[in-house]
Amino acid sequence: MNIYVTRRIPEAGLEMLREKYGNIEVNPDDRVLTRDELLEKVKGRDGVLCLLTDTIDGEVMDAAGPQCKIFSNYAVGVNNIDLDAASQRKVMVTNTPGVLTDATADMAAALMFSVARRVVESDQFMRSGKYEGWSPMLLLGQDVTGQTLGIVGAGRIGTDLAIKMAKGFSMKIVYTDLNDNAELSEIGARKVDLEELCRVSDYISIHVNYYPETHHLIDEKMLGLMKPNAILVNTARGPVIDEVALVTALKEKRIFGAGLDVFEDEPAMKPGLAELPNVILAPHLGSATIDARTKMSTMAAQNLISALEGNTPEFLVNKEAF
Ligand code: GLV
Ligand code: GLV
Repeated sequence: MNIYVTRRIPEAGLEMLREKYGNIEVNPDDRVLTRDELLEKVKGRDGVLCLLTDTIDGEVMDAAGPQCKIFSNYAVGVNNIDLDAASQRKVMVTNTPGVLTDATADMAAALMFSVARRVVESDQFMRSGKYEGWSPMLLLGQDVTGQTLGIVGAGRIGTDLAIKMAKGFSMKIVYTDLNDNAELSEIGARKVDLEELCRVSDYISIHVNYYPETHHLIDEKMLGLMKPNAILVNTARGPVIDEVALVTALKEKRIFGAGLDVFEDEPAMKPGLAELPNVILAPHLGSATIDARTKMSTMAAQNLISALEGNTPEFLVNKEAF
C-alpha cells in the first residue's frame, strides 16, 4: 500500500502505519505543504493522512487518482475537506472525535479564566517591573463561579465544558443546538435561541462545526446583544465569528473580553486584534496535549488501516456514500 502523511504527527500513529505497510512517506518538513506540493505528493496513493491545514477538494482527490480510498483527517473538524466531492468519488473521509474532547474543553475553560482574571496582562505587568505592592483596584476582573455560561453548539466538546463548569464552578448553563441535549437537561441547562443566549450569558463559548450555515454566526448584531461584562471564547473555527466586528466590540469595550484559539484567516489575525489588551490569543491549541495528540495519531492511523483493509473505519464521516 502506498501511503502519504502530509506532516509529521506523534510517532505512535506513524509506527502503526510502518508496522503494517513498511516505509511510509511522511512530509519531511515541519510545515504545511503548498497547493502544488500537495497535488504532486498525493499522486498514486492508496490512502492519505492529512491535517486540518490541508485543503482537500475534488482536484486533490483527482490528483490522487481513482485507487485512493481514504483521506484520514488528523482532526475532529473536517471543514477542510469537500465531503460532497469525496462522496461522489467514493473516497472515505474519517476524523478523530472523542479523544480531544477533554483537551479542547479544558482549553476553553483556560481561556475563560485567563480573560476573566486577566492572567496574561498580570504576567506582563509583573515582568515589566510595574508591581509596587498589593492594591485594592489593581487589574480587577470578572467572577466565574455562579455566572451564566452560554454554549453555542452542544456537541461532545460543548457538552463536556458545560458539565465541568456547572459541576465545578456552579455555573448556570444555557445552550443552542439543533437538538435537545439530555445530558444538559439533567444538569438544569436551558436550550435557548442564539439571541437569548447572547443576551443572558456572562460567558459564551463556541463549539459548532464550521460550514456555510455557521459562517459569522457571531456577527455585529449578536455582539451588540451581549452584556458589557461578557467574555467570548472560541476554540472551534475562526470564521464562526466576524472577527472585524469583534475587534470593534473589544476596542469600544462593548464586551469585557475574548479568548481566541482560532482565527478567521488563520494563521493571520484581523488588523488591530493583536494590539488589544482585552483579548487572549492562542495558536489553535485546543487538542494540543501530548495525550490527546498521541491518541489522535493512533486513531487517524487506525481509520486509514481499516479503510485499506476493506473495512468500514469506525470514524467514517461520509457514511451515507457507502
Ligand atoms: C482541531 O481543530 C480539530 O478539529 O481537531
Ligand atoms: C488577599 O490577599 C486577602 O488576604 O484578602
